[in-house]
Amino acid sequence: MKRNSKIWWGLALAVVSMVLFSCAKKEDVVILGEFGSLTGGTATFGKSTQRGIEMALEEVNKAGGIQGKPVRIVVEDDQSKPEEAATAVKKLVNQDKVLMVLGEVASSRSLAGAPICQEAKVPMITPSSTNPKVTQVGDYIFRVCFLDPFQGEVMAKFARNTLKTSKAAILKDIKNDYSVGLAQFFTETFKNLGGAVIAEESYSEGDIEFRAQLTSLKAKKPDVIFIPGYYTEVGLIARQARDLGITIPLIGGDGWDSPRLIEIGGKALENTYYSNHYTPDDPRPEVQKFLADFKAKYNEIPDAMAPLGYDAARIAFDAIKRSGILDEKNIKDAYRQNTQAKSLMEAINTPGNRERIRDALAQTKDFPGVTGLITIDENRNAKKAAVVLKIEDGKLKYVETISP
Ligand code: PHE
Repeated sequence: MKRNSKIWWGLALAVVSMVLFSCAKKEDVVILGEFGSLTGGTATFGKSTQRGIEMALEEVNKAGGIQGKPVRIVVEDDQSKPEEAATAVKKLVNQDKVLMVLGEVASSRSLAGAPICQEAKVPMITPSSTNPKVTQVGDYIFRVCFLDPFQGEVMAKFARNTLKTSKAAILKDIKNDYSVGLAQFFTETFKNLGGAVIAEESYSEGDIEFRAQLTSLKAKKPDVIFIPGYYTEVGLIARQARDLGITIPLIGGDGWDSPRLIEIGGKALENTYYSNHYTPDDPRPEVQKFLADFKAKYNEIPDAMAPLGYDAARIAFDAIKRSGILDEKNIKDAYRQNTQAKSLMEAINTPGNRERIRDALAQTKDFPGVTGLITIDENRNAKKAAVVLKIEDGKLKYVETISP
């Protein structure tokens, strides 16, 4: 009996100390936030980004974390809605008290989250929002992708010089900042190159019927239709356009990029082209290694959002390291100044430290990303090349790379 109880006490002690030990370990973690569309109309945007971020996270933790501190990322789903994006970012900033935020893909949702990060002085990096207004929100908002004035120019030049078209029509999503902006930038360059935009129609995200707009565009006899939208609507628009006998090229921007596009649009997507951030055909070793790792983990070829998410996360980790906030001396000082702190995050997550991360991010130079060499300029933007892709036999075909 006595021996038994000793064993029980011993076991209980072991369990208690294991729990205590794991708690203590858990608290020694660096916490970042991510908001994205894991569900809703553009669910592949958020899911693909998440996979890329997850890969970067696994890699950094496998290597022992950032300066020996493991990293955790709290992920919030915004259901593809700007209002939910704002709620998600408020939670990350106020409740989870994250050190930095990664997200979003869609410009309208980044624009909903950015003011909250800026106000709280929590650095935010969008992997893929291309509308100029996003980083104009303030000095804590960064991006690692090209911008729409460039992307619009790329597709206008492509339409004018490569496809040799002179009369363009536009079909845009009227409530989407990205779509409205890209339509405008395309128009500017197309006109400068001597082309004319002869007709313009619009729709709203979630619409499924586009025949009225397409019929009116068809009547004006354009040579090409520019559709700066997201994949779900674009897939349906392509099908309805072909049904109506519209055989001219349909072209668009990065918002087309999703494996769902071809599932929805099928054969209607022959003779279509769009600009994008990367191609799996790029022989650069960064791209090929990422592809091999991604295939090993997910058994798929990723769209552009996975490598963009991967690059954004790695730039975040790199900036935290370069900021010096996890240097031993800095951590000791942080605990000394906040004797109440019960975790690493409670000690180090101060406005001063976040400012140091911000400054380190601003100094990002020649970072060898999967999506290209990334240098952050004085407006917290990246200058990168774009690729033009063609959809042929239900597959993406690389056409050309355009450098800024
Ligand atoms: N650039 C788009 C936007 O700003 C989002 C996007 C990026 C979509 C990359 C697909 C691929 O809204």
